Amino acid sequence: MPTAKDSYDIVEPYAPAMIESLRAVGYDLFTAIADVVDNSLTADATEIDIVFFWNGEASSIAVIDNGSGMSEQELIAAMRIGADPTQPRHREDLGRFGLGLKTASFSQCRRVIVSTRTEVSSLWTRCWDLDYVRATCQWRVLRRGSPKAAEYSARIGKSGTAVVWENLDRLVSGTLAESAYDRDVFNDRIEAVEKHLAMVFHRFLQRPRGVTLRINGNPVKPWDPFLSTHPSTQHPEPEILMMKGETVAVDAYILPHHSKLTPQEYADAGGPHGWVAHQGFFIYRNGRLLVPGDWLGLGIKKEEHYKLARIRIDLPNTLDALWGLDIKKSTARVPVELKESLARIGRATREKAVDIYRHRGSVLGRAHAEESLFVWQQKVSHGKIFYRINREHPLIRRILSDAPPDADILKSALRLIEESVPVPLIILNKSQKPESEAVPFEQAASGEVYELAVQLYQALVHTGVSREDAIARLYRMEPFNRLSEFIANLPAILDKRGIR
Ligand SMILES: Nc1ncnc2c1ncn2[C@@H]1O[C@H](COP(=O)(O)OP(=O)(O)O)[C@@H](O)[C@H]1O
Ligand SMILES: [Mg+2]
Repeated sequence: MPTAKDSYDIVEPYAPAMIESLRAVGYDLFTAIADVVDNSLTADATEIDIVFFWNGEASSIAVIDNGSGMSEQELIAAMRIGADPTQPRHREDLGRFGLGLKTASFSQCRRVIVSTRTEVSSLWTRCWDLDYVRATCQWRVLRRGSPKAAEYSARIGKSGTAVVWENLDRLVSGTLAESAYDRDVFNDRIEAVEKHLAMVFHRFLQRPRGVTLRINGNPVKPWDPFLSTHPSTQHPEPEILMMKGETVAVDAYILPHHSKLTPQEYADAGGPHGWVAHQGFFIYRNGRLLVPGDWLGLGIKKEEHYKLARIRIDLPNTLDALWGLDIKKSTARVPVELKESLARIGRATREKAVDIYRHRGSVLGRAHAEESLFVWQQKVSHGKIFYRINREHPLIRRILSDAPPDADILKSALRLIEESVPVPLIILNKSQKPESEAVPFEQAASGEVYELAVQLYQALVHTGVSREDAIARLYRMEPFNRLSEFIANLPAILDKRGIR
């Protein structure tokens, strides 16, 4: 503890070096923007406008909200780097360390201008300009903005805040405003940001009378990872776990088999990172998604056949420290006292998910209507099992019907293949090295798989099936019953090649 007798030197951080090191905190564009949006939500904003303005190296990004805004003193405090993270937060607060606004902004730009007004105060503006800090070697926050920032702050209504990023060196340095290519790259980033925000804030966006979030004027549509309104989604009873006197709600969802979804629904439900990545626990803090699918180190790897299992965990912000939550890294660790319960819920959900995933597929015995879907058929004759190539399979049927009438050699070849299936070898390998069995098309180039999809599609259409039916059937056919992402992209490929 300090005493009056202490002698000391005050060693202030060297501003230019300190501020550059803050830039390396590990944000990317998505997490950085989401952090600024967090602040708007904490300030009770109901309308948030994100503007991406393209102008080559003079491009800028702004987040403008209609939240409560700040007085001048509050604005100055908000520009301060660092707050006490052990101070309890208001229950609705999405912040923590008092760093987000600054570190998120600096990770993307060299100048951040904040303008704000409350219902009772006038508009105030402050600016951190890293080059100015460098030149002066002092923690000087400028009391002026820029002409562009003034355009953005003019959009603030009765109360609200505009956070403007200029000098976006990480995003647009070396670009030319006239370059169509540079502009396209910039636009691609906007799309990726939109997907990220649609995911992270989906619950705010889904609420009735919820928050409106727009990017360049277009409302961001929420991405609901649980397909919670789809009739085929399974949703067992939620569980409430207790931890340190606080409740942690755990809500498991098992998503529908892909045959229950339209190709569009299936593609959308994959989310920004795809079906396999978005499985496991989804951790929310105050409704904001922090971890978009992870088995949380409970000894389970992400697998294709678990992908329909998505489990929602709701945490209050009072439990942050115990979960080791880190917004930028999207990671969390399970506190010991919850390990067993979460492992149990995870296991039960995975079991159900695997059942649904396998609902149709590799089993050889199956219903009549599905007969044309599988290449191999199992036949039993006089108690003996035979494997036969399905002559009704659209591709086989097409080969046979296209062949000249005297092409007996083709039929002989099929018979030969059927009679020489290496059953004993397969059984031996499966029992000795079960893990070394390849999944169909595991090593194939995606071009080859697409080629197969196109040919199967054409063969199906050749039998008189409609486009929709053909695509729906492909989802259930080998190997696409396990590689459904290829079919999700098929309509676009057919269109590109002009195949009807
Ligand atoms: N859009 C905003 N509207 C109102 N106040 C804001 C806004 N953005 C930031 N602030 C204020 O600035 C403070 C610092 O923000 P930040 O650096 O993100 O840290 P934290 O969110 O962890 O508190 C916030 O606690 C809040 O008081
Ligand atoms: Mg914050």
